[in-house]
Amino acid sequence: MSDFKRTLVTCALPYANGPVHIGHLAGAYVPADIYVRYLRMKGEDVLFICGSDEHGVPITIKAREQGCSPQDIVDKYHRVMKDAFSSLGINFDIYSRTSSAVHCEHASAFFRKLYDEGKFITRESEQYYDPEAKTFLADRYIVGTCPKCGNPDAYGDQCEKCGSTLSPEELIDPRSKLSGAQPIKKKTSHWYLPLQDYEKWLSEWILDGHKEWRTNVYGQCKSWIDGGLQPRAVSRDLDWGVPVPVEGAEGKVLYVWFDAPIGYISNTKELLPQSWEKWWKSEDTKLVHFIGKDNIVFHCIVFPSMLKAHGGYILPENVPANEFLNLEGDKISTSRGWAVWAHEYVKDFPGKEDVLRYVLTANAPETKDNDFSWKDFQTRNNSELVAIFGNFVNRAVVLTHKYFGGAVPERGELQDVDREVLDEIPALKASLARNIETYKFREALRDAMGIARAGNKYISDTEPWKVAKTDMARCATILNVSLQICADLAIAFEPFTPFAAERLRRMLGVSLCAGFDHRAGEAVTENTYRPGEGAALHTTPAADGTACGSAAGVVLTWEMLGSDSLLPVGHRIGEAELLFAKVEDDAIDAQLARLAAIRAEREAKAAAEAAKAVAPQKEECTFEDFEKMDIRTATVLAAERVPKTDKLLKLTIDTGIDKREIVSGIAEFYAPEDMVGKQICILANLKPRVIRGIESHGMILMAKQGDGTMRFITPQEALSNGAQIG
Ligand code: 2FM
Ligand code: ZN
Repeated sequence: MSDFKRTLVTCALPYANGPVHIGHLAGAYVPADIYVRYLRMKGEDVLFICGSDEHGVPITIKAREQGCSPQDIVDKYHRVMKDAFSSLGINFDIYSRTSSAVHCEHASAFFRKLYDEGKFITRESEQYYDPEAKTFLADRYIVGTCPKCGNPDAYGDQCEKCGSTLSPEELIDPRSKLSGAQPIKKKTSHWYLPLQDYEKWLSEWILDGHKEWRTNVYGQCKSWIDGGLQPRAVSRDLDWGVPVPVEGAEGKVLYVWFDAPIGYISNTKELLPQSWEKWWKSEDTKLVHFIGKDNIVFHCIVFPSMLKAHGGYILPENVPANEFLNLEGDKISTSRGWAVWAHEYVKDFPGKEDVLRYVLTANAPETKDNDFSWKDFQTRNNSELVAIFGNFVNRAVVLTHKYFGGAVPERGELQDVDREVLDEIPALKASLARNIETYKFREALRDAMGIARAGNKYISDTEPWKVAKTDMARCATILNVSLQICADLAIAFEPFTPFAAERLRRMLGVSLCAGFDHRAGEAVTENTYRPGEGAALHTTPAADGTACGSAAGVVLTWEMLGSDSLLPVGHRIGEAELLFAKVEDDAIDAQLARLAAIRAEREAKAAAEAAKAVAPQKEECTFEDFEKMDIRTATVLAAERVPKTDKLLKLTIDTGIDKREIVSGIAEFYAPEDMVGKQICILANLKPRVIRGIESHGMILMAKQGDGTMRFITPQEALSNGAQIG
């Protein structure tokens, strides 16, 4: 690939304050793994780096909520996330953590160099401080009433009820989440990276130099740069994080967005203590960051400016950021439980890890937000993976066993139909390669699936099971061609559905050369996935860096894809295995029922919240205004619906003064029989009005709640009718 000698691929370090969900997977991890598997298969030197992002305020908040330490939280989620990635075949070379000693040391040294060289500015500002807990408060640690919707539990940075972005200053009656005390403002000083000094350089580097970046990424960068960059704080008053390595900075840590991206470097260093620098400091290395769109500014503007300020490091060649994935039409939300968690998925759908990878790629939110739905998941599995890919392979393998004892049969003279299908594959391969290399993974998957479709059509059109009755030589040719296509699929699907590709290779009795191990000779840490330990990554590990050719048996390589003779005549294939199994309705119904329960609970909560909402006070009135109103008790004698209306009841009431009729819009809330015999309060002297042909003499007093529901007002004990209220 181009002039680079090696590729360094990073994936956003996920926060260790919750498990990984399908939004994360589709956003960064599945596409990155596809990219890496593809490069490895091509024999390129590639390193795949990730780890947990273990600092920041959300982790300390979670710890408080759960009554444990931040360390307990990150230990728990680090393990959950690491296992989830691994079980989905996302095989990083290292999955480490920002609480590691190597990271702490490297991040400190990075900061210190910038500090010593005067690359930071210091600024004093007033921050909220909890006088009881004696600590500064991050915005999330301040709660109060939302000025926009009245939610009494809005955070200092956001109201989760109405979605407004807030600042702590805007909260009504702010209080500290730690002690409940009213926060005070206190002076504090912090270090800032003056991003405005990097504006011109960023503009040249990105806006002039990287016009090929995805439109969403380029567009965000442009709008940040055009809008004018501001200094960014790189430290925080917090007791959880990498301490600021400067004298007199007690109680201050590096801002999580300063230390986290340095984690990419320190994790590389942890993995390759002797050779990490060639990955980060050589212009021969191509650096690619896979992230979600909410991380664009940090990876394209802030981190590159940090690297530039430091000097000596390479910059990303590309930052293929995805948009967001929704779930069943709603935004994925960890706090609301509206998500499909990776670790739960692998338990609920054992053996179907590939299906999730496939669906998330086929629906990847590459250019716009996209939706994941369980029905689509089922359809894609049953009608694409099972009915096309699996069906084709199964027919080819089973028939080879049936007619030729499991040995690849001789190929006779090719007919047009054979040549046509074989000719399709090199074009699909070229397109697949082009698409992966330009980060178009949906399209690339379509190309791979194109090979399966072509194979399935070929075997359906040529019907070898019928031909076998009359012409065994022709049947042999058809099955030979079919098996070559199966071998193509065992290569082409390696990046997308690695478990199935591995099963397929087992069925075909072949292995795949998945590159060489550049770590040979280096100490390998416990966070490392050793070759061959994960799914199908190193199917034929050549840990000493030797070429794959030295492995025994038939070894497929990327180069062989599309070359019409991957499997030699006489090669014995393995037993038929199920490549993909159907997803039944009950599995989907169970998932939908879980989500429906969450939705119902959310709606009930929202309704209860809405009912609590209070309308603002009306304009001032005088006692004289009030005195004009003649409010009295009355009893309902009869009630009936007003014909052809949904909302109106006609009530006959005894007001103590007289018996009269009132038309009232309460039919939504009360049936006529609910009203008869009830004592109510009325505005007796309201000017009569004709409603639907009925003259209404007065109005019932109703209490209206925040959600619009209404209840009539009744005296606490029975009173005589006509008693005046005031
Ligand atoms: O958005 C997130 O989950 C962040 N923890 C990503 C950090 S990416 C990198 F900078 F470490
Ligand atoms: Zn609000």
